[in-house]
Amino acid sequence: MNFSIKKICCIGAGYVGGPTMAVLAEKCENIQINVVDNNPERIKFWNSDDLKNLPIYEPGLESIIAKCRGKNLHFSTDVENNIKDADMIFISVNTPTKKGGIGAGQASDLTFVEAAARLIAKHGQKHTIVVEKSTLPIRTADTIKQILTSANQKYPNSATFDILSNPEFLAEGNAINDLNNPDRILIGGESEDAITSLKNIYLNWVHENKIITTNLWSSELSKLAANAFLAQRVSSINSLSALCEASGADISEVKKAIGTDSRIGNKFISPGPGFGGSCFKKDILNLVYLCNFYGLREVAEYWGKVLEINTWQKQRITEIIFQKLFGTITCKNIAIFGFSFKSNTNDTRESPAIEICHQLINEGANLKIYDPRVSIKQLEKDLGLNTKHDKELGPSNGSWKFTTDSYKAAEGTDAIVILTEWEEFKHLDWKSISTNMRSPSWVFDTRSIINFKEAKSNGINIWIMGRG
Ligand code: UDX
Ligand code: UDX
Repeated sequence: MNFSIKKICCIGAGYVGGPTMAVLAEKCENIQINVVDNNPERIKFWNSDDLKNLPIYEPGLESIIAKCRGKNLHFSTDVENNIKDADMIFISVNTPTKKGGIGAGQASDLTFVEAAARLIAKHGQKHTIVVEKSTLPIRTADTIKQILTSANQKYPNSATFDILSNPEFLAEGNAINDLNNPDRILIGGESEDAITSLKNIYLNWVHENKIITTNLWSSELSKLAANAFLAQRVSSINSLSALCEASGADISEVKKAIGTDSRIGNKFISPGPGFGGSCFKKDILNLVYLCNFYGLREVAEYWGKVLEINTWQKQRITEIIFQKLFGTITCKNIAIFGFSFKSNTNDTRESPAIEICHQLINEGANLKIYDPRVSIKQLEKDLGLNTKHDKELGPSNGSWKFTTDSYKAAEGTDAIVILTEWEEFKHLDWKSISTNMRSPSWVFDTRSIINFKEAKSNGINIWIMGRG
């Protein structure tokens, strides 16, 4: 017997829970979907009349929200009642890296996942399928199972549960596309009936041969492994970008040459300022922790190097800027183009821009930051208040300022540093920019996206990642 799913609850209305449930609602008109979150502010934004105020920016999301919200897609803070009613519950809360205690700095903090499981144990009323959406260490399903099973003894009329792992592979900025046309859907579990129930939901729009079923542990590990492989490709190409600069090779040519090998493929080999985002660093740290836990020191060290190269790449960029600007950037004005960790998102979590900006400010530079989607509030969270006005900081400390367009940001600067590959940076009017910059002016293009010829012909010095 497989269970027919009429009501879904998703705990966690974040970058994963929000878009995933929006697409599910659009594809499954007969299922009522309630996305709950313990952050009332976030829910308020999900419910705002002006769709420009949604808490996350994701191309294509607004139109789905306009179509489904209030019909079969609802956002609220009423966790209890929505758990009670649900046939299926997705856990989509965040799992940050632990800050203190055992495994600090590496292991995932499962406090929120455990809290969600306890709420489900307490309020569940019937047979409920619990689906892990958050990326989790292997065998977390065991923890969830134990919490849910203990509820059978503690709470009268308690529910029964099946647990599935169904990791999300969406990439921010392309989330709606990825959800509409996934490469694969992975479902790990023990109960055939529960697996079939979830599979039936996806069959509304995904072809059967794209749905892979595995045991729980393989599913949990596959998510970590996929992110580790992707991050490893970025670190590999970034390490070669440095070698290209040193040797006179051109990374764009090397990229083309290796990317046309069908065994390697041309995706995920673009050099840049280092990978960011909420997942890669956290998941690799988690992998390293797991390997050490199982006594696999060499494996742990291998994956740890992927992170080391990522940190080094950011430091390397700051040092290059420093050297090119005559070994001092104190009191120099530098424009930062792009602050989000990649284009088409307002997400700045682990963005390389945060570290690079901190390093430049610490060297005394005055930054003017422009990003088409990142707000001044977010910059304040990531960089702290404008340090210039902080009396406790020494005189060598620089400052940052928020600007609303790239041309204003570039005015009076010695250098522009391009950190995010926003489309608009491909079409900048270098003539107009160059007249308002100080001379000698520099552009540091860490994403290789500017119109090189035009910038060069307007007298700007250019450094491009992997070309020097
Ligand atoms: C998170 C994890 O980072 C990722 O590893 C996982 O795969 C999916 O969940 P994301 O959706 O990007 O990704 O996180 P975030 O945007 O922070 O959303 C999590 C939401 O859960 C937040 O809105 C938070 O308020 C909510 N939450 C957290 C709860 O509702 N209850 C809790 O107990 C904890
Ligand atoms: C990633 C995974 O792609 C996704 O499957 C998983 O569910 C969550 O983590 P995300 O972090 O949203 O998605 O974005 P992604 O497109 O993977 O980019 C991650 C980082 O790598 C970004 O900072 C991006 O700029 C960088 N990157 C990516 C490169 O520097 N070069 C590349 O060629 C690709």
